[in-house]
Amino acid sequence: MAPSKALKTTFINPELSGVDFAAKFSQLLACHAIAIGFTKSGDSDIPKLNLVGAKTLIRKIESTFALNLLDELTFFSPSGKAGEIFELPASVKGAKVERILLVGLGDGSLNAHRISAGAIARKFRGKKDSIASLVVGDKSALETHATSLALGGFQWSQKSTPVDGAPKFLINSEKSLDRAAVISGAVNNARALIHTPANIKNPEWMALQVKKLAKSPSLKVTVKSGKELAEFGGLRAVGNSSPKPGPRFIQVSYAPAGSSQWPHVVLVGKGITFDTGGVSLKRPYDTMTAMKSDMAGAAAVLATVIAMPELKPKVRVTALLMMAENALSGTAQRPSDVITHYGGTTVEVINTDAEGRLVLADGLAFADLHLNPDYLLDVATLTGAASLGLGRQYAAMYTRSAKVAKDLSTSGERSGDRVWHMPLVDDYAIALKSSIADFNHTADKPKFGAGSVTAALFLEKFVGERNWIHLDIAGPARSESDTGEQPKGGTGFGVRLLIDWITHSL
Ligand code: BES
Ligand code: MN
Ligand code: ZN
Repeated sequence: MAPSKALKTTFINPELSGVDFAAKFSQLLACHAIAIGFTKSGDSDIPKLNLVGAKTLIRKIESTFALNLLDELTFFSPSGKAGEIFELPASVKGAKVERILLVGLGDGSLNAHRISAGAIARKFRGKKDSIASLVVGDKSALETHATSLALGGFQWSQKSTPVDGAPKFLINSEKSLDRAAVISGAVNNARALIHTPANIKNPEWMALQVKKLAKSPSLKVTVKSGKELAEFGGLRAVGNSSPKPGPRFIQVSYAPAGSSQWPHVVLVGKGITFDTGGVSLKRPYDTMTAMKSDMAGAAAVLATVIAMPELKPKVRVTALLMMAENALSGTAQRPSDVITHYGGTTVEVINTDAEGRLVLADGLAFADLHLNPDYLLDVATLTGAASLGLGRQYAAMYTRSAKVAKDLSTSGERSGDRVWHMPLVDDYAIALKSSIADFNHTADKPKFGAGSVTAALFLEKFVGERNWIHLDIAGPARSESDTGEQPKGGTGFGVRLLIDWITHSL
């Protein structure tokens, strides 16, 4: 099987730190570019421009390159919005520096920092340049800045001519940026898996990647396939549509020695490596091309648990990856089939394109019956309805816990993976009534409505009494264009959110 082309992640190097000014300055001069942030305030008649960041370094840069940066900036009449960049040619004997970038920081919010860092990184994608960033003055924005530089520099391709290299960023920071490096690395891991096309990426291939990624001794991986999946009726009904190699249940747990009293989070990810819709074939057909991303939930929970040994929270984390392909074949399930989920609940299949909830149901029931989770959270590109309602910037979050909803919303705003609390409207439960099985798996009338809500109500049938959270990421899992920190295609949505939540709230 063809390997996927190597991922080019940017490398964050926090070397540009320490107190020795001369050493710091010589590191700056050894870079190809220096980025400096600015803000604009005051009214439009008398705008006030302001350079942000280390004043003494900036003064030294101005004298070395014989530039007055504020004068230069004024000449461009900047709007000040986040991500606006003005480039000044700069050179001096003995220095590698070719240009100085003046970078707009907008309102200075974390979101503005994400946009501006993404814009810087995008300029250097595919280049081997090193860039010194003095952009951030505000300490609290450093982690965001560093993370977004590495996200904006992400590249993945199967082009026959390989991309040249990846930029290296040196950030002026007194504190360690290890956390930013781990988080951005995790997101980029997820993105690489999501970008991989489905002729390479099948459930078995995913299991292989998991084993390669989960090298830490505090991570344990188990993979179930074939007969071991006898009780996983949902996973089998969907995944056996693709005879080779068939579905996989992948469990990755982070539970280091002495962790038995720590809270336990179980993360269940939808891992459909390609979603044709099955017998209820997706129409119009062009909506299908995005469906290699239908395993973005599994990629997100995997990348999260893989990051745990480096972040060392006092939380046990188990990721369950529900891997299957939803193909159209002679062994595909039919609308009207009745299947038996893990734990014994029977379900009448209405529309084989609603496959996500079938594979998730087994994972949720398995977690409830065997893993005793304090928090049971699933992540899934589940319904077009969620993205119709919320667009691509927010995931739909369902939970009955006000406290968890609040914590996750806060983590979303802080990390950049934003979520919106949606109601579990019990009135819609009638959609799931079946005359022959315990439940219908979707409403049997096509115009029933509230598609994201009914999907959530279905999942809730499998969570027992657990503290459960469902994230429908059908919108934000993909970006239709290359903007901000997001590449076109898989975004790795959920990784920053889950890491932030686990490390700040649990
Ligand atoms: N994977 C899709 C949901 C999806 C749609 C994700 C668009 C990303 C972008 C899911 O399996 C699906 O097909 N859902 C159906 C459910 C319906 C048949 C009840 C949908 O949303 O149309
Ligand atoms: Mn589907
Ligand atoms: Zn799907």
